[in-house]
Amino acid sequence: MKNKKFCVANWKMNMNHDDSIEFLKRFRTYDLINNNTEIVICPSYTSLFSCMNFQGLPNVSWGAQDVSCKIDGSNTGEISIEMIENLGSSYVIVGHSERRASFNETNEHVAQKFINIYNSNLTPILCVGEEYEDRKNETFASTLKKQINSALSKISNFNKDIVLAYEPVWAIGSGASADIKTISETHALIKNIINKYTLKNCNIWLLYGGSVNEDNSSEIISLEDVDGFLIGGASLSPSKFYNIYRSMGGI
Ligand code: PGA
Repeated sequence: MKNKKFCVANWKMNMNHDDSIEFLKRFRTYDLINNNTEIVICPSYTSLFSCMNFQGLPNVSWGAQDVSCKIDGSNTGEISIEMIENLGSSYVIVGHSERRASFNETNEHVAQKFINIYNSNLTPILCVGEEYEDRKNETFASTLKKQINSALSKISNFNKDIVLAYEPVWAIGSGASADIKTISETHALIKNIINKYTLKNCNIWLLYGGSVNEDNSSEIISLEDVDGFLIGGASLSPSKFYNIYRSMGGI
């Protein structure tokens, strides 16, 4: 059994403030005693503070879905690392494929955000994943290497954990996750890429994301190199999210 797993909700631009609180009211009625698995919820910026102050969910950690690459000052509309830290949040998602595709975030841009997060009190959840074309043309290994190395090579001193999420772009929101063989082989490939970085006293946890649901979660989590999930659509329902969490075992 793996010594730790992650069950991460990425709510994206869903659920306004009131919806978020309604979710938590329902979610806290469930039995969250799976000590082995850390639940992380990443609401929108406008809900994060209230969610974090919601009573009755002591076992839940919190994260933001993105952060500015600017540090502070005259950057209208941006949210800084310090602002997220100041709330007491623990995680930040960085490099999600939707930001890479719709907001032109390049590997360099993602790497800059990544290292800023790494050097703060927050833990980055770095998303990587190939487009369908890359998979079809078998160029996915080089794409993943570039995405991972451009970020991790910025770290001069590995002194804390990193969470990495492999999310094949073609599986996100599609209703069909990547198949077990693809997940297993790609996670092994990624573990191989990150092996050279893994140093004493810190871990790089590798999550899978892309149409994880109640029906496929137990099979995927049983794979050796899968340390948890980054969940979009299914995390918007308290019961579905809870069922995925439960399927991760350890209770
Ligand atoms: P999905 O999204 O679970 O809806 O496929 C995952 C993600 O984009 O993080």
